[in-house]
Amino acid sequence: MGVIISLPIGIARTVVGALQKFVLRQNKPLRIDIPLPFIPIDVVLVTDAAQIMTLTNHPDVDHLHALPTDKLPFWSTWFFSGTRFHNKSHDKWFLAFEPQSEAAQYSERRKVFEDKLSSGFAGEDVKSLADQIASGASEEQVAVSLAQIVDARFMKSELNSIPVEVVRETRHVLPTNLVAALVPGNQKRGVQAQEATYSFCQKNAQPGLDVMDVTHNVGSVVTIMAVAVLKLKDNLDTPIEHLFTRKSNCPTPQVPRVVMRETNLNGLLRYPGRPSSTIVMLSISSAAEQANSLFFTFGTGTEWRACPFKDFFFNFMTALQAELKTRRQS
Ligand code: HEM
Repeated sequence: MGVIISLPIGIARTVVGALQKFVLRQNKPLRIDIPLPFIPIDVVLVTDAAQIMTLTNHPDVDHLHALPTDKLPFWSTWFFSGTRFHNKSHDKWFLAFEPQSEAAQYSERRKVFEDKLSSGFAGEDVKSLADQIASGASEEQVAVSLAQIVDARFMKSELNSIPVEVVRETRHVLPTNLVAALVPGNQKRGVQAQEATYSFCQKNAQPGLDVMDVTHNVGSVVTIMAVAVLKLKDNLDTPIEHLFTRKSNCPTPQVPRVVMRETNLNGLLRYPGRPSSTIVMLSISSAAEQANSLFFTFGTGTEWRACPFKDFFFNFMTALQAELKTRRQS
């Protein structure tokens, strides 16, 4: 009975909201509120840079794992377990999904990244990757090299290299794109790849490191970083900051948050969000282009909880671009 009433109301509110946004050009987030039986969907899509910044660290929303996995909307855990962010069988979430409160455990996990990435990369690695790219390396070959350059530092020293089979398998995790998950078979394949990468990291990550975090790092590097490197190859004259703030080039299009209490988010919502049901998707790729800021490519516009890989990425891409340019000239 509830659904018979709530479904048409949700659809009507969604349509009115879409008209207000796209026809009347009101600067409010688009809310898709379709309370389907068993899979109710209530998603708020925020694309405006200033609005995203007001939601950063907002007390009414939090990172997804502020709630236990079984309290999150079904569709969200279904989707994320096929990505590099959640391991279903151990119920582990990557650090970026942990709550806002800066608990000691959060700080320790964050510090591992900062320490490990601080050694940067070797100039020789950049040169040999540039050689590979100049001679027409495939995305998979680039991914194998990048895994060595970035991820080997999180693994036990006796592991000589991250095997090509592992890279090949990990590359099946889902991108941060819900539509990709709806293609039949994709989500199941993503879960399989995520579980295989997690098992590999369980055996090979340095003792004391968080296995889920290491699993994420392998996933990020062999998927979005490899794509970004090939994007760079085709844009040798575009400054890195400009190239990777274009919406279509941003490796992470959106990041999610969950509503923690009934709230209209300082007037951004026309009717209140529902605790543990409304998911706010921050479209950081739109914001990156609006603000021309890598702080959106790598976070929500501020230094607070920004990706610790941001500076490594910028320095690495700058060095690689310079190397590739010299090969173009010779
Ligand atoms: C091109 C590659 C990458 C992009 C575009 C990227 C982007 C991002 C974004 C947007 C966030 C914020 C997520 C949120 O607010 O919900 C984030 C967080 C994070 N990223 Fe990355 N990332 C990349 C690669 C990496 C790599 C390779 C590592 C580790 C080696 C890494 C480690 C982290 C960590 C630890 C966080 C959580 C920070 C925190 O919550 O304090 N990222 N990343």
